[in-house]
Amino acid sequence: MDLRLKGARALVTGGSRGIGAAICTALAAEGAAIATCARGAEDLERALEGYRSHGVDAHGEALDVRDADAFEAWVARSAEAMGGIDIVVSNASTRIDPSSADWWPDTFETDLMQHVRLKMLTVPHLAKSNDAALIFIASIASILTALPSYEEAYGAMKAGLVNLVGQWAVQLAPQGIRVNAISPGPIDFEGGWWDQIKQAQPEAYQRAAGMAALGRLGVPEEIANATAFLASPASSFTTGANLRIDGGLIKTANF
Ligand SMILES: NC(=O)c1ccc[n+]([C@@H]2O[C@H](COP(=O)([O-])OP(=O)(O)OC[C@H]3O[C@@H](n4cnc5c(N)ncnc54)[C@H](OP(=O)(O)O)[C@@H]3O)[C@@H](O)[C@H]2O)c1
Repeated sequence: MDLRLKGARALVTGGSRGIGAAICTALAAEGAAIATCARGAEDLERALEGYRSHGVDAHGEALDVRDADAFEAWVARSAEAMGGIDIVVSNASTRIDPSSADWWPDTFETDLMQHVRLKMLTVPHLAKSNDAALIFIASIASILTALPSYEEAYGAMKAGLVNLVGQWAVQLAPQGIRVNAISPGPIDFEGGWWDQIKQAQPEAYQRAAGMAALGRLGVPEEIANATAFLASPASSFTTGANLRIDGGLIKTANF
C-alpha cells in the first residue's frame, strides 16, 4: 500500500531511541521529513544520521520536553525548518522515580501536560496542512488495574491522555485534523525498560511475555508501522481511535 507520505513533514518527540526512533525511521522510509528531539545529544545525532540515510531532511535538537519555553521554541524552529507540519507524534515519556516527593506532579507534567502543550503548539501548523494527523503514544497501562505500584501515576496520566484524544478528535475535525492514540503493550528493544527487566528479572520478563496471547513482547517496528498508517492519508476516516497493540495481552473485545 502506498501511504502517500512522500514530502510530508513529521514532528516526533523522543526520536533518539526505542519506539520514537522506530517511528521516525518508518516515516523517513516513506519519504517524510523529520523533526525530533531528545535530551541526550549524542544518541540524537546518531539517530538523525540514520533518518537522513533515507534521503529526507532530518532536524533535531537536544532539549527537555518539560521545559515549556525550550519546547515552544523548538516547535517553532522545526515548523520553519520543514516549511510546515503535517504529522505530530507525541511519544516522549520520562520514567519518574516513585519515591521522589514530586512523583505525582512530575508524572502529570511528563505524561499529560507536555502532550497538552504539544497539541496547543502544533494545531496552528496542522490546520494549514491538507492531511493533518496528531498521534499520541499512550499505553495499555491506561486500562490495567493490576499495575505495579510504581506505575500508578503513569497509568492514570495515560488514561487521561486517551480521554483527551477522544475530545480532541471531535474538537479538531472541523479543521481537518485527525487525532488518534496508540496504546502499546510491553515493547522490547536493546537498552529499553523491558531489556533491563530481561537482564535483572528474567522471570518477570517471561511472565509479561506469557500474558500476551501471542506469547511474546512486541518490538518498536510493530508500533511504528501502525503509527505510519495512522499518520497517512490511507487512514483518512480514522479519528478518535485508541489502537491497542499488545499481542492480545488485554483480554477484552475492543468495542
Ligand atoms: N516500551 C514499552 O514497553 C512501552 C509500553 C507502553 C507504552 N510505551 C510508551 O511509548 C513511548 C516511548 O517509549 P520507549 O519505551 O520507546 O521510551 P524510552 O526508551 O524511554 O525513549 C523515550 C525517548 O524519549 C526521549 N525522552 C525521554 N524523556 C524526555 C524528555 N523529558 N525530554 C525530551 N526527550 C525525552 C528519550 O531520549 P532521552 O532520554 O535522551 O531524553 C528517547 O528518545 C512512551 O510514551 C511510553 O510511555 C512504551
